Amino acid sequence: MKKRVLALALSATMALSLTACGGGTSTSSNPPADGSTAPEGGGTQKIGISMPTQSLERWNRDGSYLDQQFKDAGYETILTYSDNDTNRQVNDIQNMIAEDVDLLVVAAIDGEALNTVMNEAGEAGIPIIDYDRLIMNDNVSYYVSFDNYTVGTLQGQYVVDTLDLDNAAGPFNMEFTAGDPADNNAGYFFQGAVDVLQPYIDSGKLNVVSGQTDFDTVATDKWDTQTALERAQNVLASYYADGTQVDVWLCSNDSTALGVTQAIQSDYAGSNQPIITGQDGDEANLKNIVDSLQSMTVYKAVANEAVVTLDLGKAILNGDTIDESLISASGWEFDCSFDTESYSTSDGHNCPSFLLVPDVVTKDNMMEKLVDTGYYTQDADGYLHPAA
Ligand code: BGC
Repeated sequence: MKKRVLALALSATMALSLTACGGGTSTSSNPPADGSTAPEGGGTQKIGISMPTQSLERWNRDGSYLDQQFKDAGYETILTYSDNDTNRQVNDIQNMIAEDVDLLVVAAIDGEALNTVMNEAGEAGIPIIDYDRLIMNDNVSYYVSFDNYTVGTLQGQYVVDTLDLDNAAGPFNMEFTAGDPADNNAGYFFQGAVDVLQPYIDSGKLNVVSGQTDFDTVATDKWDTQTALERAQNVLASYYADGTQVDVWLCSNDSTALGVTQAIQSDYAGSNQPIITGQDGDEANLKNIVDSLQSMTVYKAVANEAVVTLDLGKAILNGDTIDESLISASGWEFDCSFDTESYSTSDGHNCPSFLLVPDVVTKDNMMEKLVDTGYYTQDADGYLHPAA
């Protein structure tokens, strides 16, 4: 673990415990941790950080990391979580605009539904960093995310490699569970996985027993665990009750994998443990990986996503030129690319994007990827917990 990221991981973990008890809105500032990063222009500049919800684990980490980063750099922050309620997120952002924030950092609940409030921010001259989930509005200045399509290809490739699909006779039975249709990322994750697996489906080596392969049918509203659980129970009851074996359940992330894993435990007639994929490295899912109930997760070091967002935010507020030179100038010790082609917010308008690189975590490499790097500690039973 590189020093800068470790310090961030630790301080944000401390902040996380505070945020998790509170929720709603918090406004606060710290004196600059380092004189060289103090905001320019005299007065303290204010950052509005709008996160979707505290009910999905990762956003608590994102919110805390971002809040801590900006505060340590001497900015005042307003941090809100909108309880997966789009109207509430619009309202939260309107309040930030009314509070004269100098910069907005927004992870949208619904990529289409923030149009009016993004226009209001644009009219007020407030730059917007679109965080993790693409907002379909041209007022967005920059997009910071992981390479979403690659997340899906990593999941698909894990299945290909684990089943040795190029050599094994098969056929293997599989099902899909995708994410929230309102979240622009969900389609990228799904498509990435499908693009890797489709040739094997076409050749008959993979057989989707339910026949449910289109995104809308396998999607999970709000990425909700209970919703994923109920659909998996229905699929198991309808197509697997006779003892048909399911070999793979491709889940787009950890909150949906959690529901599918519960359904396998409670409602599956077979005795094999299917391959179940995920994304995020949520604590309950890492436990399931240790217990061999989930096979892998695609880990995204959101601490680094917050580092990129801070450095980008500072550059915007300082009026610096922003292109790939930000990457070398910032001295990030992790991979990140500058992309002006992949994410369009409207026809003919691409949002300049900084994209980080996701990584596969399994039972075999979780110590190296998560514990040795300082993000998690391991308890006596072998389970991982966020470092404190
Ligand atoms: C994020 C994923 C997360 C999902 C549900 C997506 O937009 O990129 O990391 O699993 O939302 O929270």
